[in-house]
Amino acid sequence: MSAQLIDGKKIAAQIHAETAQKVRQLKARGIEPCIVFMRIGDDPASRAYVGMKDRKAHELGIKTDTLIFPEGTTQETLLTAIRAANADRDVHGILVQAPIPGIPQDSVFGTISPDKDVDGFHPVNFGKLLLGDKTGFRPCTPAGVQELLIRSGIPTKGANVVVLGRGNIVGKPMAAILCQKDADADATVTIVHSRSRNIPAIVRQADIIIAAMGFAEYVRADMVKSGAVVMDVGVNRIEDPNSPKGYKLVGDVAFDEVREIAGHLTPNPGGVGPMTIAMLMANTVSAAEKQAR
Ligand code: GUN
Repeated sequence: MSAQLIDGKKIAAQIHAETAQKVRQLKARGIEPCIVFMRIGDDPASRAYVGMKDRKAHELGIKTDTLIFPEGTTQETLLTAIRAANADRDVHGILVQAPIPGIPQDSVFGTISPDKDVDGFHPVNFGKLLLGDKTGFRPCTPAGVQELLIRSGIPTKGANVVVLGRGNIVGKPMAAILCQKDADADATVTIVHSRSRNIPAIVRQADIIIAAMGFAEYVRADMVKSGAVVMDVGVNRIEDPNSPKGYKLVGDVAFDEVREIAGHLTPNPGGVGPMTIAMLMANTVSAAEKQAR
């Protein structure tokens, strides 16, 4: 039997339609939702991600501004730009694309006003997430994974969830979301990481596997319980002599073989990826709504 694929593009499109409706309502009240993107250096992936976020915002009627800083930009220059955007009443959301070369990430995320932190990385928003306080913003990729589970009718209550990876952008907030006392969470969550022992044996216990550690095709068929739900967050470049670029992108899951074992599986691309942008746009509109009050 072959896994049912979770269509992230289709679910993201539903969320975008809901967001576009909220944008129209805000505009009818004279409020134009606006997000500022900041990007440092010339990392091709960062450029591509910010470009995609910018295009989608425009499609939805959200105003954008993109500030591009050269590599070598000082911390003070970047923080000054963030403070200016914090103070600008016409700006509702601020996103500084990571990685941020040469500048401590904590100082950057900690300077963004929590009310404009549509990435959900400010310590206040991270703390609210841990405390189960829903008034903050939640990081977009893990929030998107939860939304995929909800909209695919996959229950998490009491489920064994194994999150692979403990990063601040996905792994940690993912675990924090799914362990909450909440009808859409209520899971038994285990995090495994590079220093964990017996990873395959732990992953085999999972009803839901969330792979976010950034190792190409790490999750193999023999690590997956029959019928498990497998969510692939990874984006990894591997050499591919058959591609004109010399590389191809693969997830953290060995798709072809896991597909034969899993019950549900996200394709990659077209699974979790589109959800990150969908949640970012939803957070931006929510920020504009809150700031209008
Ligand atoms: N880099 C990788 N993922 C993200 C994200 O969700 N937000 C930001 N700002 N940077 C990232």
